[in-house]
Amino acid sequence: MDFFKKETRTALEAIEYAQWIAHAPMVFQATRVLRDSGILQSIQDSGRKGLTLEEVVEKVNLPHYGVRVLLESGLGVGVVLIDDEYKYTLSKTGHFILNDQMTRVNMDFVQDVCYKGLFNLEDSIKNEKPEGLKVFGNWKTVYEALAHLPEFAQKSWFGFDHFYSDDAFPLVLPLVFKNKPKKLLDIGGNTGKWSIACAKFDKDVHITIVDLPGQVTMAQANIEKHGLSDRLSFHGTNILDETQKLPKGYDAVWMSQFLDCFSEKEIISILERCHEALNDDGFVFIMEPFWDRQRFEAAAFSLQQTSLYFTTIANGNSQMYHSEVFLKCVRAAGFEVVEQIDQIGVSQSLLTCRKK
Ligand SMILES: C[S@@+](CC[C@H](N)C(=O)[O-])C[C@H]1O[C@@H](n2cnc3c(N)ncnc32)[C@H](O)[C@@H]1O
Repeated sequence: MDFFKKETRTALEAIEYAQWIAHAPMVFQATRVLRDSGILQSIQDSGRKGLTLEEVVEKVNLPHYGVRVLLESGLGVGVVLIDDEYKYTLSKTGHFILNDQMTRVNMDFVQDVCYKGLFNLEDSIKNEKPEGLKVFGNWKTVYEALAHLPEFAQKSWFGFDHFYSDDAFPLVLPLVFKNKPKKLLDIGGNTGKWSIACAKFDKDVHITIVDLPGQVTMAQANIEKHGLSDRLSFHGTNILDETQKLPKGYDAVWMSQFLDCFSEKEIISILERCHEALNDDGFVFIMEPFWDRQRFEAAAFSLQQTSLYFTTIANGNSQMYHSEVFLKCVRAAGFEVVEQIDQIGVSQSLLTCRKK
């Protein structure tokens, strides 16, 4: 990885960029409102011709003053352009804000799950607790809160979670099933998407989904809908309770975007229990987006910023890890990594581990 090693800006660029950071909440909110109010859409619909301020006002039915300040902010942000006849058109960045699914998923997640709570980042760091989660209620972690979050926040949380794992699932299925595991443990199985994909991929496999009791109920309902209940079992537990053992006798343990929900000490403890759950010749498969294993700097940037969601909203002690920090935990729990494949789907790496 060659990012983040050298200064890349001139002094003028750096002071300009510092203003971007100073105004980041305005940049974010104005752009989001431009997107959600239909202003960007109406400008896109006008094509190369563009629209004047008055024409935009007419199309979106919002006050003239409000549309003007939003569009002027949008010029500075670079989501719209203006020509000599005062007609607004969409810039390339505006195009991605409006049409790119990843950008939309990230923006919805930041707005609906993180934005208000992020005001408590400083306290979260000092207290090692997700102090921002209190905007949703009195929960210790977001995972216990998930089934009870307001619908808009749930939708954006799942949209974000699924976006980053869904496209990787079909790519890694053949790798996980190379040795034909008969019994697979899916820890942090969430809505059951991975387990459903496994059950469809291999007609002989039996899968146990481990998750918090509230989440397991959601997964169970999903599995029933797919008519796969005969090959899927459920184990509702709080994995942080070290007195609760995992069921044993598995050929494969799967954890996707799961261990990043925990601190290094907790990761080691969970992996030690995976060690007990796994047959001696079995494999643990870990799919994680490591920020240092990305092809694009923007992907590393997104993961580094997502860590602050874990700090302020999720549980106050976890993050999107640098792979070296994570691999140390894997080794400390008695595993060796036999294969690491990076750049799967949008941002994932797959670690295949066996007992040392
Ligand atoms: C980020 S999601 C990943 C879901 C899925 N594996 C994927 O790749 O999309 C993390 C999952 O871990 C579960 N989880 C978090 N903390 C847990 C805990 N203490 N015990 C059991 N499951 C937990 C959450 O309920 C959630 O389903």
